[in-house]
Amino acid sequence: MAFEKFNLSGKTALITGAAGLLGIEHAAALLESGAQVVLTDIGEAALLSAHTNLAQNFDATKIITKVMDVTNPQRVHVVAEELWADGLRIDILVNNAAIDPKVKGDQGVLETSRLENFPLDQWELQVAVGLTGAFLCSQVFGAAMAKDGKGGVILNIASDLSVFSPDQRLYRKQGLTDDAQPVKPVTYSVIKAGLIGLTRYLATYWADKNVRCNALSPGGVYNGQGDEFVQRLSSLIPLGRMASRDEYHAAVQFLCSDASSYMNGQNVVMDGGRSVW
Ligand SMILES: NC(=O)c1ccc[n+]([C@@H]2O[C@H](COP(=O)([O-])OP(=O)(O)OC[C@H]3O[C@@H](n4cnc5c(N)ncnc54)[C@H](O)[C@@H]3O)[C@@H](O)[C@H]2O)c1
Repeated sequence: MAFEKFNLSGKTALITGAAGLLGIEHAAALLESGAQVVLTDIGEAALLSAHTNLAQNFDATKIITKVMDVTNPQRVHVVAEELWADGLRIDILVNNAAIDPKVKGDQGVLETSRLENFPLDQWELQVAVGLTGAFLCSQVFGAAMAKDGKGGVILNIASDLSVFSPDQRLYRKQGLTDDAQPVKPVTYSVIKAGLIGLTRYLATYWADKNVRCNALSPGGVYNGQGDEFVQRLSSLIPLGRMASRDEYHAAVQFLCSDASSYMNGQNVVMDGGRSVW
């Protein structure tokens, strides 16, 4: 049976930042493979909307929602205790939550995306969500996977920017001086590269307990961005286009299932070939 190893029936996957653009796709991918999913995010309304959306195509009884701010260790523990009390074992953890600050650029306004002006509180918040949050969730749910001997899988959602630097020319706006040009903030690169370090660390830490950890590094997903940006970005990608939101399903299914049972500590870069051009 070629696809038997992709079968996630009987498994439960917890996804952080699950109400966002890709979080809901990861959930759909795991539901397609037969898993039960726990959608976690900071806002109840967004979680309910994600639940309603997914329940149109999948069994609603296999979709659980929990408000969980990944920067709050107490809340992560409470959610874990609630799930365990309900007899749920988290077999798969998808560390997906992040703050992806939109690059704007307004004439006459201090351009805070630039390194020189980047606010310390933004640095701290973004690192707390994208990197510390992945650590805290791995600490709680990864440790539990290791403890009972059944093992599990941790998947860290990084980015193509984990392997190369942002091309700031993509974000340039006509008519702005150099020091007013918006940029992809430094935090994004630091967090995504940091997640690869966390991936390698976790891949060895509980390997003897059969807990594997890999990273998926998606390229940019088309989501109605402006034509000029899309054209500029597409010209940097050998396939000549951005990704569709559902193009990472198969990778998530592979990385979270026994289909990847001998893959550990790797960063799977799916970027239309951008990083090799
Ligand atoms: N969309 C892309 O083009 C793209 C490309 C490469 C990598 N990624 C990565 O994929 C992941 C998902 O991105 P997305 O495009 O779906 O982003 P998104 O902004 O749509 O979703 C991120 C989710 O994280 C949640 N979140 C924010 N702070 C949180 C916190 N403290 N605790 C828990 N949840 C929190 C948000 O509420 C949101 O629902 C991110 O790690 C992102 O960096 C996205």
